Amino acid sequence: MKVLLALFMFIPLYSATSFITKEEYAASLYHNPRGIGCNLCHGEAGKGKHIASYKDKGVPKVFDGKPINTIPFPLFYERINSKIIGMPRYYLTDVEIQTLYYYLHREELRRAAVKSNRPK
Ligand code: HEC
Repeated sequence: MKVLLALFMFIPLYSATSFITKEEYAASLYHNPRGIGCNLCHGEAGKGKHIASYKDKGVPKVFDGKPINTIPFPLFYERINSKIIGMPRYYLTDVEIQTLYYYLHREELRRAAVKSNRPK
């Protein structure tokens, strides 16, 4: 009975997670990371985005989200976990940070995978 119960509890969970692909999960996390979507400040592809131009004591200033699709993973990881002025504080897990990095690099990772699978 206990085994049966465990099975019934496991199957719906398992099938619910297998409905979405890794790509879909990565995209939804980038747009909705339990907070404001990264896309709103860093752009759809993480290339950076102009958010606002304003004047501070008469001096023209800009507020831009930096490109985040060209930095190496260790820096990406470290910055997300630190306080950044102008950016909301997120509390992302290691897997979530890896998934976001994957999202920003998915095209090149896919190309690299195809290349390494090609027969020599
Ligand atoms: C409200 C706007 C905003 C949102 C939303 C936002 N960021 Fe940022 N982010 C910033 C600003 C501003 C900086 C700092 C830019 C600078 O240092 O000039 C920054 C910096 C970063 C950096 C460091 C870049 C570097 O080269 O040092 C990373 C990595 C980063 N953001 C990732 C993310 C990710 C991933 C998300 C979503 C989970 C996100 N950001 C959401 C505004 C935002």
